[in-house]
Amino acid sequence: MRPLIGTSWKMNLTATEAAGWLDAFVPLVEHLTDRDLFVLPAFPAIFAAQARLTGTTVGWGAQDVHPEDAGAHTGDVCAEMLRDLGCTYVEVGHAERRRDHGETPAVINAKVAAVFRWGMTPILCVGEAWPAGPEAAVEVVLGDLEACLAGTTADQLGRTIVAYEPAWAIGEGARAATPSEIGIVHRGVHAWLCDRAGGRGARVIYGGSVDEDVAPRILAEPGVDGLFVGRRALDPRHFARIASTCIDAD
Ligand code: PGA
Repeated sequence: MRPLIGTSWKMNLTATEAAGWLDAFVPLVEHLTDRDLFVLPAFPAIFAAQARLTGTTVGWGAQDVHPEDAGAHTGDVCAEMLRDLGCTYVEVGHAERRRDHGETPAVINAKVAAVFRWGMTPILCVGEAWPAGPEAAVEVVLGDLEACLAGTTADQLGRTIVAYEPAWAIGEGARAATPSEIGIVHRGVHAWLCDRAGGRGARVIYGGSVDEDVAPRILAEPGVDGLFVGRRALDPRHFARIASTCIDAD
């Protein structure tokens, strides 16, 4: 399984700033051919990612999508528009969207379907709200996966990226979950996916206060297939260091 390391810039970086970020970042990671990298700019900066990343080893995508394909949904963006900008990844169900926009598992499920309909890869974010131990986290996460991935075919499940992001580990002042906590949840997710995807390997990546210090220890944990980085990646040199983390081949 190729490791996958990406960032969502959330509501940061204008298109102009994004272009500068990408110009600084790409030369630092061009030599990394044993892993997949991606960036998820805000909607207005996706075209800058397309312009700067076409022909490089770095993929790009969006942080959200509307479940429907077109119509009277002022301010929203549909999957076809993202596909047209060369997006390969679309994040759905982030804790901040659930919090700020009241997104339910049913809405997230419809967004996953839209992403597949347009030939892109969903990055589905799941995670418990409060720290109550990894076993409790597995229960919450698997229940959420059941709902958010309802109706998804085995083939689609095998292509889904699950981002385990405990809400309590995300953002300013938070700390990352420990590698052993993360490993327990990831292995639980893998077992669930294997049951339903006939053993085909979807990737399970971790997000929540990832920085250069914790990245190697988290990536070394069995069941962790990659990292999803927020605020630490707003500086391209920091993200390049995380993206360059030494990874032992399995
Ligand atoms: P953070 O965000 O790295 O700033 O904690 C992580 C995320 O929300 O994916």
